Formats: sequence, C-alpha cells, structure tokens
Amino acid sequence: MTVPIEVAVEDGVQTIRLNRPEKKNAITSAMYAAMADAIKTGWADDTVRATLFLGTPGAFSSGNDIADFMQVAMSGERGSMAVFDFLEAIIMSQKPLVAGVDGLAIGVGVTMLMHCDYVVASERSLFKTPFVDLGLVPEAGSSLLAPKLMSHHKAFELLAMGEGWSAADAREAGFVNRVTGEGDLESTAIAAASEIAAKPPQAMKLSRDLIRGDRSPILSRMRQEAEIFGERLKSDEAKAAFMAFMAKGQKKAG
Ligand code: COA
Repeated sequence: MTVPIEVAVEDGVQTIRLNRPEKKNAITSAMYAAMADAIKTGWADDTVRATLFLGTPGAFSSGNDIADFMQVAMSGERGSMAVFDFLEAIIMSQKPLVAGVDGLAIGVGVTMLMHCDYVVASERSLFKTPFVDLGLVPEAGSSLLAPKLMSHHKAFELLAMGEGWSAADAREAGFVNRVTGEGDLESTAIAAASEIAAKPPQAMKLSRDLIRGDRSPILSRMRQEAEIFGERLKSDEAKAAFMAFMAKGQKKAG
C-alpha cells in the first residue's frame, strides 16, 4: 500500500507533503516512518538546504491517527516506534524546518510546529491540542517548549485546556511567523523555504545551531512524556474518548 507522504526536492527545498485529505491528514505509523526517513535522507543530501512540511487544502494534519491509538489501547501492545523516530528527527534536525499550515492543525500537527524554524499559516487555520480531552498528555517535548515560548498560562490554555486557537493566536503565542490568505499560503511558505535555502549553508547551520541551543533536554522531555503517554493510551479515560470518536464515524456512515 502506498504511504500518503509525498517527498520532492527542488531548488534546495525538500518538500514533505501529508497527502491523506480524506482523513484530514491523520498520521499513521507508516506516515511517521516515511517522514522520518525523508528528513534523515535530507541530512545526507547536500542539495537539500531546507525541509518544508505541507498538508492539503484545509488540513495540515488532524494529528495522530486515532485508529492507531485505539489499536494500542485495546491490544495492550506497545505500538509502533515510528512516531518517536519522527519526533527525534525533528528535534535533532540538521536542516532548517519550515511549515505551511492551511486549515486544521491538531495534536502533533501543532506540537511539530514548535520544532520548526519558520511557520506560515493561513487565516482559516485552527490550532488545537485536545490531549486531556482524549485522556492523554502533551507530547513531542511540547510540555517543555510551550511554557518557555508563550508563558505558563498560554501553554496551559493550549495544551491542558485544549482551546482552539486562530492563526493570529498562534502568531501571538510565538510559533507562527506569518499569516496569509489561503490562496497565498503555499507560495509564501515555499518562498520562505527558498530564501533560507539560498543562504550560505555553513553559516546557516552554525547560526541555527546557536539559536536552537542544546537539544538534549527536549529529547529527554519527549521520552518522559512518551512513557506517560504510552500508559495513558491504555487508560479507561483514553479508551472512552477513542470509542466516542470512532462511534461518531460509524454514526455518520450509518
Ligand atoms: N484519526 C483518524 N481519523 C481521523 C482523524 C484522526 N486524528 N481526524 C479525522 N479523521 C477522519 C474522520 O474519522 C473522518 O473519517 P470518515 O470520513 O471515514 O468518517 C474523516 O477523517 C473526516 O473527518 P471529520 O471528523 O468528518 O471532519 P470534520 O471536518 O467534521 O472534523 C476534525 C475534523 C479534525 C476536527 C475531527 O475529525 C477531529 O476532531 N479529529 C480528531 C482529532 C484528534 O483528536 N487528533 C488526535 C490528537 S492527539
């Protein structure tokens, strides 16, 4: 089965596009694995000077595939490690990361942006991390990064209360650089990635490393979150939330 992740390299920009619009770009284990592979391939390729994440019209990503969560919750198994490969790849990324968000950005669709260096969002975007409503906890190192980036209070509103934020809110919080109309989203994101890709690569790398600082506390927080997240996936609170979501789909189909 083909994995709905499209990868292309053009003029120094490696584009990784989530292309599963029928599921609002929910991310499966196979998709995490494909993205982790692409990112690491980009590290080894001198022609890649920046990596750009894109989704499809109206959906950047609806977060982790809930059917995958459900599988882990019900089987009691550990689940795929691909998500951690992906998270490690973006935490430790060696090339600048840019994202263009048009529409829905949910769960990891938000927290991955905290590892990007430049983010463009369309005006119709919605940012939401309903971790607690799903019986879960924040992931991807977001519990460490968000309070530093936007204050404890704003981080609590986003990560614990699961409030839905507009592009302007996300910009004010500090993880979106520019807000555009939906028609300009991709061209603006590509232009930003191309601008970065055109700079002297060694100076860019050294500067970026200085700006990003030591990644080890982020990596260790991501692993700490993952331990708790893994336990929570099997909790009664999480199982009830996953079943409610799946039942909504069945009701729609019936
Ligand atoms: N995992 C699996 N499937 C998902 C999904 C996810 N995270 N998000 C959306 N889908 C599926 C829906 O089940 C639906 O499938 P179906 O057509 O086979 O029934 C399809 O994508 C379209 O979603 P739908 O809910 O009909 O679209 P919407 O515009 O009304 O709502 C969302 C979009 C994203 C707000 C809603 O789907 C949602 O809340 N998804 C879950 C988000 C989430 O909690 N992610 C995990 C965060 S940790």
